[in-house]
Amino acid sequence: MPQDTITITDNRTGQTYTLPIENGTIRAMDLRKIKTGADDFGLMTYDPAFMNTASCRSAITYIDGDKGILRYRGYPIEVLAEHSSFLEVAYLLLFGELPTASELKNWVNEITHHTMLHETTKKFMEGFRYNAHPMAMLVSTVSALSTVYPDAKNIHDPASRLLQIKRLIGKMPSIAAMSYRHNVGFPYVYPDNDLTYTENFMNMLWKIVEPKYAANPVIARALDILFILHADHEQNCSTNTMRAVGSSHADPYLATASAASALSGPLHGGANEEVLRMLDEIGSKDNVPAYIKKIKEGKGKLMGFGHRVYKNYDPRAKIIKWAADSVFEVTGRNTKLEIAMELERIALEDDYFAQRRLYPNVDFYSGIMYQAMGFKPEMFTVLFAIPRTVGWLSQWQELLTDPEQKIARPRQVWIGHETRAFVPIEKRTPVVAATR
Ligand code: CMC
Repeated sequence: MPQDTITITDNRTGQTYTLPIENGTIRAMDLRKIKTGADDFGLMTYDPAFMNTASCRSAITYIDGDKGILRYRGYPIEVLAEHSSFLEVAYLLLFGELPTASELKNWVNEITHHTMLHETTKKFMEGFRYNAHPMAMLVSTVSALSTVYPDAKNIHDPASRLLQIKRLIGKMPSIAAMSYRHNVGFPYVYPDNDLTYTENFMNMLWKIVEPKYAANPVIARALDILFILHADHEQNCSTNTMRAVGSSHADPYLATASAASALSGPLHGGANEEVLRMLDEIGSKDNVPAYIKKIKEGKGKLMGFGHRVYKNYDPRAKIIKWAADSVFEVTGRNTKLEIAMELERIALEDDYFAQRRLYPNVDFYSGIMYQAMGFKPEMFTVLFAIPRTVGWLSQWQELLTDPEQKIARPRQVWIGHETRAFVPIEKRTPVVAATR
């Protein structure tokens, strides 16, 4: 019997099946041959929320949730955060290798020359309600880019794919900044090609009347680090959405808008905004024990805590705490930081959190840092979407070039009625009564 196999006995029939094991997985399709008879469809797995299902083979981002390890293309996140720029990491994620000096120069130059938005896109954005949420504006505007770039439909042409990738990475900060300016009623600011990726984003957000915006270098570097930390995170909810929508061969603007929609939810990228609301609700350090008690009684969740994969400290949260020191030296300490640190201290000592292996995740400290930098909470998830676009696009490319991938189409376990006789309208029971 070959070693890398598993033998399954079907107790319904007494039959035995030997299936190959590859990379610690069995192929779900191999289970189909396990049948009770000729009419049987074959065995399937039932895995709501994909708790134990690998949907792809990937060489982009590696996570070991038990050990708290995160690597992009083999490089530990801590090393990249310390030594690289965000656009350098974007290159690594997309092309698999760190760029040489000249490759990086060309790459930065190309992204910089894709930051402008078509004037019709600006007009489109002007149509949003005056106080529209920036994340909803971002999602809608990214999908509207599909109308500006119909060539994006050529998803099987590598050159066209690369062009759309550059456009999306270049334009995300411009759309994000315009969403913010629209929300606060300020005129839009055009990109400045003399500035770095993050400096230019700050320019488009915060420039008022000065002829040339000068970004604080400490804040710009901290933002760049935050972008590196958020750039990819293997098969999370929004990346899975990107792959699912991309698998139908939708264009990358529509697929990215779908991924950003998934990101906006409070259990995913929307958590950073919720952390700030939670800290506001707690109000002071003294109220932390009572708040923890409430959470343990099942009244809500501690936002910014817990993770599907990390059952140890999220390595990104550790780096954020380290980067936060430099930001607070410029901005002064934030009272919310004290509440957050107390919350973390008490939660980490508590059995409820220890037994469930709940640790701070990336969103726990990022919001506090963003607020100290001058961002409104409504912008926090937008700040997540800008760098994650690189991850989504890397995974989208990997999907399209993987010969094993097809349109994503899960199965279901049918729990509804068998065939029923049609009921004439006068004989129907009201639905409300029927569900009581
Ligand atoms: N506070 C209190 N209890 C929690 C929390 C929390 N934040 N997270 C999980 N639990 C409890 C949960 O109630 C369950 O308890 P029990 O076994 O008694 O029913 C147990 O821990 C296991 O939780 P789960 O819901 O099965 O875990 P999951 O893997 O399905 O959910 C999660 C992961 C991130 C959605 C969840 O931990 C959560 O809702 N956290 C708060 C929101 C948050 O911070 N999200 C950001 C995630 S990281 C960045 C990103 O993905 O964008």
